[in-house]
Amino acid sequence: MRDTNNILVTGGAGYIGSHACKALAAAGYEPVTYDNFVYGHEGAVRWGPAVKGELCDRPRLDQVFEEFRPKAVMHFAAFSLVGESVSDPGKYYRNNVLGSLTLFEAMRDHGVDNLVFSSTCATYGEPQALPISDDHPQNPVNPYGASKFMVERIARDFGKAHGLRSIFLRYFNAAGADPDCESGEDHDPETHLIPLVLEVAAGKRPHIAIFGTDYDTPDGTCLRDYIHVSDLADAHVLALKALEDGAQTMAFNLGNGRAYSVREVIETARAVTGRPIPAVEQPRRPGDPAKLVADAAKAQKELGWVPKMDDLSVMIETAWKWLLKTQ
Ligand code: UFG
Repeated sequence: MRDTNNILVTGGAGYIGSHACKALAAAGYEPVTYDNFVYGHEGAVRWGPAVKGELCDRPRLDQVFEEFRPKAVMHFAAFSLVGESVSDPGKYYRNNVLGSLTLFEAMRDHGVDNLVFSSTCATYGEPQALPISDDHPQNPVNPYGASKFMVERIARDFGKAHGLRSIFLRYFNAAGADPDCESGEDHDPETHLIPLVLEVAAGKRPHIAIFGTDYDTPDGTCLRDYIHVSDLADAHVLALKALEDGAQTMAFNLGNGRAYSVREVIETARAVTGRPIPAVEQPRRPGDPAKLVADAAKAQKELGWVPKMDDLSVMIETAWKWLLKTQ
């Protein structure tokens, strides 16, 4: 057992990583952020020290492992734009796969055996059955999903060879902001539905585009399973505790098991903000599955995870407060 309570959090300055740092600190851990600050924000690091560095920079990683002696790693740092991964796959394989491999080799050499990995429902590809369970076949359909899938595989192989124990958390659609308004979503460029809808409500964009109205869904628009970012953060702490209690490598879906359409998201945002949100119907966005909905029963049963903010209005309300605070 390590003599510190430090957890190395790669990507701790990002959207989900920063919420995880807050949850870690609340649970008595010391989150040490490792981030290149390309997409992360220095102001988002509020619950522990920050180190600037690249995932592929092995000497820098060695310094951090030696200085902070973390007892586990939470690995969020990754590029995560599906469209960009299609047009520039090398960027995704280099950063997400090679970067993770470098990190895992550093963990092996510094004797750190516990990993919580930020994975995604994009590793499943086009769903063969709904809701998607944790043992659904993984056939990713874009380089982003493929890169995360490969990292899971590498971590499993490191488990067999070197004793790494990993929990892969496969998120559905992360949404919302810290209810205390201490952290939130701040992507540049922004591509996600809820923050874009709220930027329209705030007058920063003229309208929201609805990508596709001819899907085989009740209102013709895509269905997604939105999960509050603070609920995701809680699951990471529970996963870490499970590893500390001896859990072996496994994967968990994180979602609410309830799908909302693009039109329902826009309608809910109109109700929450009280603002008009003009919407313009556009053709489908390439690569979007019609429906993604999680079967997250395993995380609830085995990790004891209970999402607290499963109401879409609450997710949008917290994101709206954050936008009003930071605009
Ligand atoms: N959408 C619009 N208009 C927009 C933006 C999005 O109609 O301006 C629609 C999309 O077509 C999709 C839904 O809103 O149907 C949600 O889109 P997001 O971009 O918010 O989220 P995605 O479902 O595309 O992406 C999420 C994660 C990715 C992950 C992917 C897996 O953010 O990291 O699920 O499919 F890879």
